[in-house]
Amino acid sequence: MRILMVCLGNICRSPMADGWLRHKNKKLGLSLEIDSAGTANYHVGEKPDHRMRKLSLEYGISIDELRARQFSVTDFDHYDIIFAMDQSNLKNILDLARNKEDKQKVRLLLNELHPGKNLEVPDPYYGTEANFREVIELLDEATEAFLINNQLIVKQ
Ligand code: 4NP
Repeated sequence: MRILMVCLGNICRSPMADGWLRHKNKKLGLSLEIDSAGTANYHVGEKPDHRMRKLSLEYGISIDELRARQFSVTDFDHYDIIFAMDQSNLKNILDLARNKEDKQKVRLLLNELHPGKNLEVPDPYYGTEANFREVIELLDEATEAFLINNQLIVKQ
């Protein structure tokens, strides 16, 4: 299964979602293919935000190797599931969809954790360290829920 995590800048939320899922994929010996992208092009080529890189290490995850890229319509061809972090990302991705098949690939990540609630991963970019930590913990739970929902792991 090929999974793409998408936020606005691809420097805070989606690299961390990507980092968690890569970490779990490796730990569990799964064969998911994982990447991330941003709907905007502001930070293309940059490493993830320094605050996210620093804090992620406390959780045993390094996202230093990731580089921001912009979501492209060709991502619909390659990925099976495209997870948006918030409603705005969701809309921007859906606006690029070419057909029903493309649209069906796009979901809000937090619906894995809270089905049908359409909740958003808050944008921490202008926030505090506590906001970054909240996002990291939320993304841990959401990626765990995704694995459980797809029966890739059993709930403890
Ligand atoms: P992200 O956070 O979408 O989680 O990567 C943001 C990063 C950059 C900006 C906004 C949000 N920005 O406005 O540059």
